[in-house]
Amino acid sequence: MVTGSTIYWRLRLVTTPQEAQYLTIATMSRIAGVFCCLILSVVAAGAETQGQSSYIVHVAPAHAPRSSRPRLLVRAYTSFLRDTLPASIWHPAPRVLYSYAHAATGFAARLTKVQAAHLESQPSVLAVVPDEMLQPHTTLTPSFLGLSDSSGLLPASSGAKDVVIGLIDSGVYPKNRASFVADPSLGQPPSKFRGSCVTNPSFNASLYCNNKLVGAKYFLDGYEAATGPLDETQESRSPLDTEGHGTHTASTAAGSAAPDASFFNYAKGRATGMAPGARITAYKACWKNGCTDSDILAAFDAAIADGVDVISFSIGANGQAPKFYRDSTAIGTFRAVRKGIVVSASAGNAGPGEFTAVNIAPWILTVGASTVNRQFPATVVLGNGETFTGTSIYAGVPLPESKIPLVYGGDVGSRFCEAGKLIARLVAGKIVLCEPGVNARAGKGEAVKLAGGAGAILAGTKEFGEQALTSAHVLPATAITFPDAERVKRYISTQTRPVATIVFDGTVIGKTPSSPRMASFSSRGPNLHAPMILKPDVTAPGVDILAAWTGESSPSGLDSDKRRVQYNIISGTSMSCPHVSGIAALLRQAHPDWSPAAIKSALMTTASNMDNSREIIKDMSTGKASTPFMRGAGHVDPNRALDPGLVYDAGADDYISFLCALGFTTEQISVFATDGLAADCSKRSRVSAGDFNYPAFSVVFRSTNEQITQRRVVRNVGSNNVGVTYTANITVPAGVRVTVKPQKLQFTATQQTQEYEVTFATQRVASVTEKYSFGSVVWSDGEHMVTSPVAIILPAASQVAVM
Ligand SMILES: *[C@@H]1O[C@H](CO)[C@@H](O)[C@H](O)[C@H]1NC(C)=O
Ligand SMILES: *[C@@H]1O[C@H](CO)[C@@H](O)[C@H](O)[C@H]1NC(C)=O
Repeated sequence: MVTGSTIYWRLRLVTTPQEAQYLTIATMSRIAGVFCCLILSVVAAGAETQGQSSYIVHVAPAHAPRSSRPRLLVRAYTSFLRDTLPASIWHPAPRVLYSYAHAATGFAARLTKVQAAHLESQPSVLAVVPDEMLQPHTTLTPSFLGLSDSSGLLPASSGAKDVVIGLIDSGVYPKNRASFVADPSLGQPPSKFRGSCVTNPSFNASLYCNNKLVGAKYFLDGYEAATGPLDETQESRSPLDTEGHGTHTASTAAGSAAPDASFFNYAKGRATGMAPGARITAYKACWKNGCTDSDILAAFDAAIADGVDVISFSIGANGQAPKFYRDSTAIGTFRAVRKGIVVSASAGNAGPGEFTAVNIAPWILTVGASTVNRQFPATVVLGNGETFTGTSIYAGVPLPESKIPLVYGGDVGSRFCEAGKLIARLVAGKIVLCEPGVNARAGKGEAVKLAGGAGAILAGTKEFGEQALTSAHVLPATAITFPDAERVKRYISTQTRPVATIVFDGTVIGKTPSSPRMASFSSRGPNLHAPMILKPDVTAPGVDILAAWTGESSPSGLDSDKRRVQYNIISGTSMSCPHVSGIAALLRQAHPDWSPAAIKSALMTTASNMDNSREIIKDMSTGKASTPFMRGAGHVDPNRALDPGLVYDAGADDYISFLCALGFTTEQISVFATDGLAADCSKRSRVSAGDFNYPAFSVVFRSTNEQITQRRVVRNVGSNNVGVTYTANITVPAGVRVTVKPQKLQFTATQQTQEYEVTFATQRVASVTEKYSFGSVVWSDGEHMVTSPVAIILPAASQVAVM
């Protein structure tokens, strides 16, 4: 049956030699083949030319030149450098790559280490941060999210036609893509939008840009400075997406309805973005090997100047989240949020370990990834009759029903099934079982095919538990879970003539397994830098998502794969993020007066913790109930977010006070604070970081006899505004006592605010050996349920919760 629209974004496959190399040396063990891109981010952006590398220089606002013209600013910063750097260290001469006026105050430049150090020592300079290379973090159905043309958020917001969503990503591929065709009912973009499409021989704006795709720009200076001149036989010096990720995310967020979308009949149905009326503007800052901070910051700068309403950011730091004041994403997003722009960002694909979430500043809407009720089963049938259901979107000629010989990669030259290592004589005509790691998943299938193999079975990693990862294989292949692979291995090792076949079952939509379930790869909390702020914030569909794809590269990411597709099916928090961006756009249109924090609050307090079997959403890595450190406040529920009852609001001043409470210095805070915001913490009333008005509670206990109070303010945004009373209902986490004061909140008018406080106290039972425990605070007026998750970090864990 029709699946509704599907959209997806997946993580990029590891295809380039650099990436493959990085994977080998770094975290490959935790990367289950597919998710390479996200996780492996870092190719250092610092290719050094003449001892120079790229830095982002944050300049104290009082010393910053002012101009609305970027070219004049670049010139002014060049003079600034000339005035600031002594002649003795001037050579090789620095080169300014970008000036920043909106997303940050300062510039990016090529500098020597000595020049950078000298600048950092100047009072006029707040920070000099090496430019790092980040990586894109790689949909399902509006119907799964309850979006309907006839009722709820979608009609209430007219599809968000007055809203512009900016996607900072790998560009957009609009050629012959239904997702980027402007519906005739769409008028001109809103007049406050000042963006535009660049036009050049590779990207003809008059052909591609319309009332749907209203802007397209690209940012390349930081990338070229780091990696050398762009290889234009491989990539396009234009906003054109030659990779696929940006096209996928853009169509997920706001793609026009495409009536008959599928990937070779998989996931067939009507595909539409979450906000089908919203306008798309693409800021291409990601290239073959990643995205540099300097290009990303330039993209934020342009998006703020262009007047977008929502920014969708499916990109993340590689490895640990950087400290807020050294994190270009935290800085650019702060400036955007201050301008009223909602920023939704992917949490990362570095799960299932704790403290892996990135994009974790409190002003960012941080999105984890979970499954939908759709699967692509491809079942391994062994000679002894055992069957193991895997997952695959292989689209070619299937294997014969009769079973054929089955071998283990480790017995035929390469347990990882690496190209050139498999021994053709031992592989020909057989199915090969491959271990995860080292090379990309589709690459394992390709290697087996090259060696003359007939099929492949890809084993999952132990830490991914119940999750196997879907790929667009180039030969009959499926991926099975780690425990299932262990049994297949045992079968191989105990049989003299092991045989098997793989049966491809196409697209199956149903109630089992339960959905949503948290993806094993979805990055998790606690928050590395501010453990009192729960992260991620919410979860949304990010596993096996169908959405538009580029015509310039294959769906598998393999160069040898000559297929070109309109739609592709991929996975990652990169895919869940634009779902939430699109939903935020709908809320922005429905409630033009809501701040980014209010929109975020509405999404969080109405999110669902339950799956379709009425149990707590499960975690695929363990098969057990997930926690708020995985799912945040839960799975977004767009229709309920339209009418949340109460919101927890916050603005730029609150964020600065929060940074003060974290103990940041004035200099560090000045990187965020712009005109009108006092960066001097001594001039602000002292607050505790735990009092930051977040729609969730995360409480860090350092001893077994401690009491912590957190304060909150809620605003009545309910339509029922006269004499409404909300009552608190607490689900108490194990190991603590919880009291709420007052227990009732009365509102006599809409927009009225009320304060309350929650006191958490550790119980003096020494028996609590758990690191974490969880509960909730729910305010209800009988009509709305305003739910906040509670996460308790117990003393056994708080030593790790570094701050
Ligand atoms: C761009 O497309 C327009 C409309 O089809 C066409 O008239 C124009 O010649 C094209 N420009 C270039 C540079 O190809
Ligand atoms: C409080 O929440 C619990 C758990 O969800 C529920 O069983 C109970 O009925 C609620 N109590 C009130 C007074 O709403």
